[in-house]
Amino acid sequence: MSLDQIKSVAVVGAGDMGHGIAEVVLLAGYPVSLYDINTEAVERGAGRIMASLEKLAEKGKVPAEGVEQIRSGLLKTTTDLAEAVGDADLVIEAIPEVLDLKKALFTQVDELAPPHALLASNTSTMSITEIGACTGRPGQVLGLHFFNPAVLMKLVEVIRSQETSDETIETGYAFGKKIGKVPVLVRRDTPGFIANRVNAAPTVLFQSIVERGEIEPEALDAFLMAVGMPMGPCELTDYIGIDVAVNVGKYFADQLHADYTPAPHVMRMLEQGHLGKKSGRGYYDWSNGRPQIGLSKATKRFSPLLAIFVQINEATKLVDQGVCSVAEVDLAMINSTGNPVGPMSIGRQISHWDLSDQLEKLAGRYEKSIFAPTQRIREGGHKH
Ligand SMILES: NC(=O)c1ccc[n+]([C@@H]2O[C@H](COP(=O)([O-])OP(=O)(O)OC[C@H]3O[C@@H](n4cnc5c(N)ncnc54)[C@H](O)[C@@H]3O)[C@@H](O)[C@H]2O)c1
Repeated sequence: MSLDQIKSVAVVGAGDMGHGIAEVVLLAGYPVSLYDINTEAVERGAGRIMASLEKLAEKGKVPAEGVEQIRSGLLKTTTDLAEAVGDADLVIEAIPEVLDLKKALFTQVDELAPPHALLASNTSTMSITEIGACTGRPGQVLGLHFFNPAVLMKLVEVIRSQETSDETIETGYAFGKKIGKVPVLVRRDTPGFIANRVNAAPTVLFQSIVERGEIEPEALDAFLMAVGMPMGPCELTDYIGIDVAVNVGKYFADQLHADYTPAPHVMRMLEQGHLGKKSGRGYYDWSNGRPQIGLSKATKRFSPLLAIFVQINEATKLVDQGVCSVAEVDLAMINSTGNPVGPMSIGRQISHWDLSDQLEKLAGRYEKSIFAPTQRIREGGHKH
């Protein structure tokens, strides 16, 4: 199916991501049918869309008539899946990150959506191939992975499963552009795709440092905020949820390497019900809102380059597997974070001897073989 044939889109799941994705698609002028399991959830999602659009209109970023058009006709809500996807040319799924839930949904959607429709998943980590296999149209199943908040973050990873057809991928990529995003092709279905996979390695590093008590969470976060990150890694983990972080770590551990297993202190927080922002406590106390992190507490014992080194190393594994090119790694990282530069361009300034040496030291110090330099790094192949 070509881009021109996409006239109507269904978004399944109206939570944090689903409502944001629906908003982006509506802003591009498509009618959207938004579905969730109950009226409260779908109406909350629609309410969040309208509140965000009104803010954008107040700031002059979208015309007020455009918002009115969305309110009065383009956005439809339903709790009837058949009604949601029955006329859709593209269905985008954004339900919880539970493989069995996604598989069951895709089986149902496959029965209800028109035979020509493309079915996309917004999964952060999971196999598009496995999801597609639950349908009778695996060639028309792809990943369209947006980033949070979807309205602001430019990246959409367009993921090819082992079965996705060329035509589906071309249409998915063109759709990403049409809705104003920066699409990056993920040529092979691999856990975490590009951005989340590259970020998985520094997560292991940060958790290892905290686990050993080398640096307190607040000192680490304060330091990284002082060097320009909007949020340090521990606060970010609280923000996304300790439970979500554990699930992602376990998935990577299961699919890629045991080194990704969440650190014992993270597992302890989960067991104690300290899930971060949503439960009021995680690394920080959230009972009075966002924790006040004192920048004066910043550690002087950490180099942010170490986090970049492990990202570069992780990225070379993707390049070796034919998932993406070196340049596409940076395109994905810049547009998923808002950082002005990507890790690979920083790595271009660093000799492969230095990089290999530092990675060897990290692998030894934290007993994580995933930090060991790849052959590509040892040969300077991270530069191109
Ligand atoms: N939150 C993020 O930062 C982020 C970023 C990128 C991708 N993702 C991915 O997006 C997906 C959704 O995440 P989220 O953060 O929006 O979750 P969320 O919990 O905010 O929203 C999920 C929504 O799905 C609904 N739902 C549950 N079961 C359903 C079903 N069977 N059918 C239809 N709807 C159902 C829930 O009622 C809820 O409204 C996940 O796969 C997640 O990994 C999340």
